[in-house]
Amino acid sequence: MSGSWPIPGVDLHLELDPATGRRAGLEKALREAVRTRRLAPGARLPATRRLAAELGLSRGTVKAAYDQLVAEGYLAARQGSGTVVARLAHGSADDPDRSSGEAALRPRHDLRPGRPDASAFPTAAWLRSARRALGAAAGDAFAYGDPRGRIELRTALAEYLGRTRGVLASPDLIVITGGYVQALALLSRVLGEAAPAVIAAEDPGVTFHREVIRRNGPAVVPIPVDEQGARTDLLEGPGFPSVDAVELTPAHQYPTGGTLAPGRRRALVDWARSNDRLVIENDYDGEFRYDRQPIGAIQGTAPDRVAYVGTVSKTLGPALRLGWIVTPRRLLEPLVEAKRHDDRQTESIGQLTLADFITCHAYDRHVRACRLRYRRRRDLLLDRLDSRSRPPAGFSVHGVAAGLHVLLSLPACGPTEQDVLSAAAARDVAVGRLGDRWHAPGDHPQGVIVGFGTPNQHAYPAAVEALTRALDACSR
Ligand SMILES: Cc1ncc(COP(=O)(O)O)c(C=O)c1O
Repeated sequence: MSGSWPIPGVDLHLELDPATGRRAGLEKALREAVRTRRLAPGARLPATRRLAAELGLSRGTVKAAYDQLVAEGYLAARQGSGTVVARLAHGSADDPDRSSGEAALRPRHDLRPGRPDASAFPTAAWLRSARRALGAAAGDAFAYGDPRGRIELRTALAEYLGRTRGVLASPDLIVITGGYVQALALLSRVLGEAAPAVIAAEDPGVTFHREVIRRNGPAVVPIPVDEQGARTDLLEGPGFPSVDAVELTPAHQYPTGGTLAPGRRRALVDWARSNDRLVIENDYDGEFRYDRQPIGAIQGTAPDRVAYVGTVSKTLGPALRLGWIVTPRRLLEPLVEAKRHDDRQTESIGQLTLADFITCHAYDRHVRACRLRYRRRRDLLLDRLDSRSRPPAGFSVHGVAAGLHVLLSLPACGPTEQDVLSAAAARDVAVGRLGDRWHAPGDHPQGVIVGFGTPNQHAYPAAVEALTRALDACSR
């Protein structure tokens, strides 16, 4: 028996293999649908009588197939509510968390860097903005539009970035993107269009971003980082003759946490100006500075040389996939073309919602509230780590003035990264490994990256306590 039949109610087509028996064929097709998540966990299956009639099978065959899959754990039989796909069905191979390369296990205490507290998302205010934005939207909001993105958002961002980050932005020079990662991909593509390009990226830095650059054409060379940030003072030297652009995190170096020193900022801009080169300024968490006024974006001092990139991934959440490039004018046209060929434009409803959210100052209020929350978390972390930063343990903490993570340097003769990660894992704590962020393996300083953004507010103190117990165990 071959062909496909819709399952009533859940709009699913099942391919029944003619070479397999009726019952075995139905079991196989259902198993496949659950495994590939075409039937989602919790989805309700049709009643046996109905499915039997639809597929031309006996009711007993369908019932036997359901029973078998219940026994195997794919389906669950609920008294009074029929048969549903099991919540923990065998779909793990297709679980996005697993296949995305993220750690497969969700640790009880998640202190990995790079994530904000998802429970802090301002749902009510966001909904108000969405309602207002959709109510006011003209019909063109649902049509193809400018590849740069909605003018409402570009106008709101130009004002916001100028006011809060010292960015010199006019709406016509802003391109809305799917987060930092798309911005970096588009800039890489544009740089490599005319001739093979080379981009210098921080070492240590973000491994994924280096891959994004390479996949879009340019080669990547490492630019070392010390406590003053990226070694931009080396750019005029012999190691960097053919570099077309430098990609860096000047406000809060990822992962070491330093701020690019004033002399290094000048060296970077001088190099870009005198060699007709580009700076890609990744301002991924510039809103979160705790101990003094935020340092303005480099773009404000050299808008013709700097492509400034921002994102809502740390302020609102990475799932929104909203970011922006403030571009030098000469790159605007190729960037717009690259964006148009990539995805035509970023989707409009989120853009209009964010535009309203910024314009009514809900974004300012949200960022301010988050800054306070994360600052308290950082203070608690530092307080608990304080006793460990003295000998004999010898840990030292870096990059505490900003952002959602700190770097814990390990003493040369003390526990290794692996020792700390193992001790943490034994207490169900996950932290980041500095060793994963270098351009190439080698004899690098050892450290772990502690993110304090992810846990819910109520779960955070226990996570810090568990971490300190792990560090205690390593110090003995
Ligand atoms: C260094 C750095 N840059 C950028 C981002 C944001 O990337 P995206 O906007 O693609 O989510 C992150 C997020 O964790 C980051 O750590």
